[in-house]
Amino acid sequence: SALVVLISGSGSNLQAIINAIKAGRLNARIAAVISNRADVYGLQRATDAGIPTVTLDHTRFDSRPAFDQALQAQIDGFEPDLVVLAGFMRILTPDFVRHYAGRMLNIHPSLLPLYKGIHTHRRVLEDGGHEHGVSVHFVTPELDGGPVIIQAKVPVLPSDTEQSLAQRIQEQEHIIYPRAIQWFVEGRLKLEGNQAMLDGQAL
Ligand code: GRF
Repeated sequence: SALVVLISGSGSNLQAIINAIKAGRLNARIAAVISNRADVYGLQRATDAGIPTVTLDHTRFDSRPAFDQALQAQIDGFEPDLVVLAGFMRILTPDFVRHYAGRMLNIHPSLLPLYKGIHTHRRVLEDGGHEHGVSVHFVTPELDGGPVIIQAKVPVLPSDTEQSLAQRIQEQEHIIYPRAIQWFVEGRLKLEGNQAMLDGQAL
């Protein structure tokens, strides 16, 4: 299977996917990595792994739809089976999301449906929560609202800072994202209506 991975930053999830492919845990190839920001470390990771990269600077477009149309054209040029959002920090238009219905995944650092949006670690700490986590989900037009595929939980410790919590969460991200992608590659994971299905069973 061919993947296109979209990033905006450090790309540690991209690295986890690259590593899973190298280790034979994920039977896919990354056709391209696309970033909306130049000079991010994720692009270097891709180049180091011999993966083609594209930078599409959203600030050079007049509107969100114009950016999304250009992004879609870039992605579709690589003919991916699956689009993987890995720290891609842009809100996507409904037309774009519909075009990739059932073939686009995102990872979000919270136990969805809790804490949609940004600054999840900070908000969990502010709320005095004892549990936090990360979710992989199908992308649907509602921001961070698509059907959840897999989650990992982590405890929130009294000593935690935003950074220590983020680090504990990221370790889990790097485990569950390649796993979910492999399920998709194996044809075991599907979106049916607004329901994620694994091996024909509702998740
Ligand atoms: C991750 O925490 C992910 O959950 C969120 O953005 C971050 C991306 O990190 N959506 P990285 O670029 O993969 O290191």
